[in-house]
Amino acid sequence: MGHLRKYFLGIVSGTTLALLLFPSSLSARAKVVGPPEVAWKDMNAKQKRVYMKEAVQPKMKEVFQAFDGKRFAKFTCETCHGKDASDRKYKMPSNDIHPLPNTPETFQAMMKKEPTWPKFTEFMAKKVVPAMGTLLDVPVFNPAKPVKGAFSCEKCHRLETTTP
Ligand code: HEC
Ligand code: HEC
Repeated sequence: MGHLRKYFLGIVSGTTLALLLFPSSLSARAKVVGPPEVAWKDMNAKQKRVYMKEAVQPKMKEVFQAFDGKRFAKFTCETCHGKDASDRKYKMPSNDIHPLPNTPETFQAMMKKEPTWPKFTEFMAKKVVPAMGTLLDVPVFNPAKPVKGAFSCEKCHRLETTTP
């Protein structure tokens, strides 16, 4: 018994010692990796998931709730990724966010037809797109200075051909 106990204590204190020597091994599992240290495009799926949960979700929840606390009282991964989020491995754009018309003319027609669209569009362009650009540390679409692949509406919304 005494022998076993000593052996057991030996294992325990060995572990403790390792933690004292390498305290980072404890927090390594929970550590959030992300921009600007690691670029969004270079992150693996797991790192992206953790970054979304720890950084994107809480910040964007604030942004959406400041705009409309009632409609976005419940704000989850599915708000952006859609009901089938995890089945689709969080691929964007979402299947559930309302698609946007894909030409300026049809878009303007929707802006006239749907009373909520002008307010939403302003919020999306002025708050949502810039906040996501900052979180992911990527360039955002700027009509004055277009950059290929810049973050914009179609990262979240599907584009659709519609007849006005
Ligand atoms: C405010 C909207 C928003 C919310 C909320 C959100 N995401 Fe995302 N997520 C995005 C966008 C936009 C992208 C695509 C970014 C890109 O690659 O340009 C993305 C990408 C991802 C990816 C990478 C998908 C790929 O293409 O490999 C994962 C994984 C992910 N999100 C998981 C989550 C999880 C888990 C949650 C909830 C904790 C969450 N997201 C909440 C907007 C959101
Ligand atoms: C980070 C993801 C994201 C980006 C980027 C984004 N949106 Fe949205 N948008 C949403 C979400 C989430 C909703 C709410 C959807 C819902 O309630 O089903 C929404 C709603 C809207 C609506 C209201 C649709 C309705 O239900 O009637 C409009 C209009 C809109 N967005 C336009 C835009 C425009 C224009 C841009 C680019 C300037 C843009 N969005 C960029 C996520 C995004």
